[in-house]
Amino acid sequence: MAKNSNLHNAKLRKADEFYTQLNDISNEMYHYRHHFKGKKIFLNCDDPTTSNFWRYFELNFTDLGLKKLTSTHYDPEERTYKLVMEAGQDGKPIITQTPLEGNGDFRSAECVELLDEADIITTNPPFSLFREYVAQLMEHGKQFLILANQNAITYKEIFPLLKDNKVWLGFNYGSMSFIVPDTYERGNVVVRDDGLRYATFGNICWFTNLDIDKRHQPLTLWRDYTPEDYPQYDNYNAIEVSRVDNIPCDYLGLMGVPITFMTKYCPDQFRILMLANGNARTNVDEQTLQYVRYELNDQDKGGLGVINGKRVYARILIQRVDQTKERQ
Ligand SMILES: C[S@@+](CC[C@H](N)C(=O)[O-])C[C@H]1O[C@@H](n2cnc3c(N)ncnc32)[C@H](O)[C@@H]1O
Repeated sequence: MAKNSNLHNAKLRKADEFYTQLNDISNEMYHYRHHFKGKKIFLNCDDPTTSNFWRYFELNFTDLGLKKLTSTHYDPEERTYKLVMEAGQDGKPIITQTPLEGNGDFRSAECVELLDEADIITTNPPFSLFREYVAQLMEHGKQFLILANQNAITYKEIFPLLKDNKVWLGFNYGSMSFIVPDTYERGNVVVRDDGLRYATFGNICWFTNLDIDKRHQPLTLWRDYTPEDYPQYDNYNAIEVSRVDNIPCDYLGLMGVPITFMTKYCPDQFRILMLANGNARTNVDEQTLQYVRYELNDQDKGGLGVINGKRVYARILIQRVDQTKERQ
């Protein structure tokens, strides 16, 4: 039993070793420059000798007007260290390395202390610990910008944060390539001219609670609603919109949209009611269930939308803001 769980942990750890490229970090950080001025930045899952997050902030320390940059290195087997960059007496930034008491686990007391004293946390955290990682950020009331897999949108711990506008998606999303170690052996790996191994994933996005222009820009809607193009679910009082670009401009009722909607979500334009997936009924209050008029259906697996007896993929139930106001 113990052996199995060790093996499992080792597998998870291996799956966590993905290194973000500098240009992907820079393309996102560009939109948040005004947030960084005078701030203390903490990278709590980054070996500063290899991390491009550290590299980006070190290179731009003065340009961004940072107050302090801290990175803790994690090693499951041994004590590690932190690297800190801040202005020296002559105003020029200096870097100091200090040993940590422990192994740099982001959950350790000393790393939590560093988290508490920082203003903004940014990194690509270990995917296997993503739920725990976000819970800690929320519990400590931190501002953050972190990279993750889009599947996390549907996690029962994450979706409520998106729905309630406590967290949203950043600018860039979709396909991204990460540098992976030799031990990572999957079909999506290619060796590039620089000799490094890159694995590409089609569903990457940034999660943040730093305000950005993008989330205040409404989607341009231009399609007209017709009952033929937008079938009604059997078990929800909502229509199926199979592509986000096809959201009709003249429909004010409930609509089920793919989870990629979150990449375009503007809370001034839409309200999110619930996630219609296999766990829907356990994730939503009775009042909302009544409003969406959810009815248990033979084909239903706890909340997926059903059309003519056929289940559809996970959907987010949304409604235009002008209509939801009338509901209140
Ligand atoms: C997806 S990788 C990203 C590394 C780096 N942030 C980057 O973007 O290049 C996640 C990193 O988190 C580290 N890690 C795993 N468990 C951790 C923990 N409990 N505390 C801190 N770091 C951890 C892993 O060693 C791994 O390097």
